[in-house]
Amino acid sequence: MAIRIIRKVGDDILRKVSRPVEAINKNILTLLDDMAETMREANGVGLAAPQVGVLKRVIVVDVGEGLIELINPEIIHAEGKQIEAEGCLSIPGKVGEVERPAMVVVKGLNRHGEEIEVKGQGLLAKALCHEIDHLNGVLFIDKVIRFIDDDE
Ligand code: NI
Repeated sequence: MAIRIIRKVGDDILRKVSRPVEAINKNILTLLDDMAETMREANGVGLAAPQVGVLKRVIVVDVGEGLIELINPEIIHAEGKQIEAEGCLSIPGKVGEVERPAMVVVKGLNRHGEEIEVKGQGLLAKALCHEIDHLNGVLFIDKVIRFIDDDE
């Protein structure tokens, strides 16, 4: 496992659309391991592959309820709304309120290639939506209602 460099806002890669993973090979498993380690080292609750410079549809999330790894994640159901503070490891020093669904169900593959569904409410719903946005080149600053703590 290795810590990877987290790309920061302004880096074009964060604005690109990631490609689906077609085969879960050793590179993808190493990517998952490295992403989890990089997220933890940075005290984040989620990380998407483009943030470490890989344009593949892979995310990791850990909101304190255990590590979730998802390959080719898709939101298949969303309900309600929440407006909560959000930040991003690629946008240091910025926190803003973003509207997200209160609950989502996300479908994807686990590291064994098995289809899984993850249901998340509150913080987990927010984190899943935030990370899936990264796979489409979308950052929370695109959706922010109000910045709360702007260092600039
Ligand atoms: Ni982010």
